[in-house]
Amino acid sequence: MEYGRETVIRLTEYEFEEIVQYFRANYGINLQKKKVLVECRMAKELERLKVPSFAEYLRLLRRDRTGDVAAGMVNQLTTNYTYFLREPAHFSLLEQKIYPELFPRKYGPCQIWCAGCATGEECYTLAMSLCDYRESSGMAVNARILATDISEEVLKRAEKGIYPKKEKERLPVSWQEKYCVDMDAGHFCVEEYLKYHIRFLKHNLLAPLPEKQQFDVIFCRNVMIYFDKTVREQLVRRLEDCLKEGGYLFTGHAELLSREETRLEQVYPAVYRKVRTSE
Ligand SMILES: C[S@@+](CC[C@H](N)C(=O)[O-])C[C@H]1O[C@@H](n2cnc3c(N)ncnc32)[C@H](O)[C@@H]1O
Repeated sequence: MEYGRETVIRLTEYEFEEIVQYFRANYGINLQKKKVLVECRMAKELERLKVPSFAEYLRLLRRDRTGDVAAGMVNQLTTNYTYFLREPAHFSLLEQKIYPELFPRKYGPCQIWCAGCATGEECYTLAMSLCDYRESSGMAVNARILATDISEEVLKRAEKGIYPKKEKERLPVSWQEKYCVDMDAGHFCVEEYLKYHIRFLKHNLLAPLPEKQQFDVIFCRNVMIYFDKTVREQLVRRLEDCLKEGGYLFTGHAELLSREETRLEQVYPAVYRKVRTSE
């Protein structure tokens, strides 16, 4: 193999199975039907590590003490597709129904967790919707958004908050004007003050958060879709425990939770609420 050309190296069934098991056990993601995708995406990674075969790569992974080999694999094999104002009905619901309910007085603290934030478009959309609500309602909303992902590469991009200009066209014009700053012909960045509301953290959803926290709103959208049933059930339990009473969980529209899967009550499509014990 020549380095620098990203030659695709074929996986044997045995090697592929080892990667599938590793990924499922450590991150919950099921790659069973994605052999070609794994071969193509891992070509870059084998080149980065300068290893000529998957046999050699798997030896490195088994001896990985620093976590660098595993982190590189996560960067390549997670699906990080996202965009601004994805599933816009969720953001309308927040502004019209949920924020007024969460902030009944003039001042309100609000904890939001954006779990599986990818490159940041989702948590910045949340920050924009909060700022917009603050402006329109006159409420002194004190919001904190925790944005987590398992991939270090996407988190670095999220922290920078720089995106191709085309991407901002998904936002209402008034939001483009208020919250986006053009940088050069091809890029814009999000307004610096949006970042004051957000803390980015590398976190694996298979584990509890490092500090015990309870949230008013959790966004965990388009993440569980890659998980097996058992992993998904465990994650839903953990998310339920991280919600305050009366708090809301948002999932992707392709990830609807059945009554058997959750103790939360469904209140809108892909939106669930933790019932207050006093209700
Ligand atoms: C398809 S993106 C969804 C992004 C955003 N939530 C949205 O709906 O547009 C899924 C994200 O979940 C992250 N993810 C997958 N498994 C994870 C895990 N076990 N722990 C934390 N994040 C994970 C991936 O790295 C990826 O960035």
